[in-house]
Amino acid sequence: TWTMARFRDVEIDKIRQQVGQKKVICGLSGGVDSSVAAVLIHEAIGNQLTCIFVDHGMLRAGEAEEVVSTFRGRFNIKLIHRDASELFLSELDGIVDPEQKRKIIGRLFIEVFEEEAAKIGGADFLAQGTLYPDVIESVSFTGGPSVTIKSHHNVGGLPDRMNMKLVEPLRELFKDEVRDLGRELDLPESIVGRHPFPGPGLAIRIPSAAVTREKLDLLRKADAIYLEEIRNAGLYDAIWQAFAVLLPVRTVGVMGDGRTYDQACALRAVTSTDGMTADVYPFDTGFLTRVAGRIVNEVRGINRVTYDITSKPPGTIEWE
Ligand code: XMP
Repeated sequence: TWTMARFRDVEIDKIRQQVGQKKVICGLSGGVDSSVAAVLIHEAIGNQLTCIFVDHGMLRAGEAEEVVSTFRGRFNIKLIHRDASELFLSELDGIVDPEQKRKIIGRLFIEVFEEEAAKIGGADFLAQGTLYPDVIESVSFTGGPSVTIKSHHNVGGLPDRMNMKLVEPLRELFKDEVRDLGRELDLPESIVGRHPFPGPGLAIRIPSAAVTREKLDLLRKADAIYLEEIRNAGLYDAIWQAFAVLLPVRTVGVMGDGRTYDQACALRAVTSTDGMTADVYPFDTGFLTRVAGRIVNEVRGINRVTYDITSKPPGTIEWE
């Protein structure tokens, strides 16, 4: 659109003025905001930008590969991809409590990011994909005035600790505008239109249990089938977030002429405008039974599927 083309040019000028000849680093998560920020800044200052992608090993199927191929391959952006999954998983070993999971992941994220930044000699500027709602709602994204229902994991502690100035070119934009800007910058639709994904990733979709590689694998497979069916049905863009949750329950089932005793999973899909409140997405039963059938048949280790019909409030979007 005209407005976004203009916004892009104005912001590119501003970034050039702010940064001069200095170096900028940007944490990439694979989400829309940091992706759009990175590509915009790259257009402005090219190789003065280095992106750091801390891969905590709790992304969805195929996401890490997509980040690397998009940024390195398609945009030719300097990208450090640090596979830190071993470290994250070992520190999360035995941790069941959701807030503990968040704290550990948040801390490690900062540590690994700092380590990688130090390896390239640091930078004067840190780029972040902060949006306007983040600026005005910087308290608790869950919306309670004084109660923190869930602590938001972000790179919020980084700028202070690393003594860097911030570059935040998206500070005046709302999510839909960021998406328009992303299209203007030729980012692929699979990134621009992507559902929000929590910083702690799949760790908080394995409720009441510790994260293990085996559980992550099960969850990833179920989640990928669910999302594939949602895309095939043309429903992806009508939904705010959709994902599978691996439940800490084993249930009895029957497969062929044998008995199974495996894990259950829940499917969640909600509509929302900002994540503060959410309604359950009303799939038809035929869709849900098809997904359930595929998951139970294709994912060895899951033998039962349920659909979460709780709105927010009183539920939250994520299970933990
Ligand atoms: P809840 O579960 O509180 O989630 O209804 C609201 C929105 O926030 C996301 N979410 C998180 N995002 N770190 C994040 O970056 C987190 O720890 C976190 N917990 C929840 C959730 O996916 C939804 O979009």
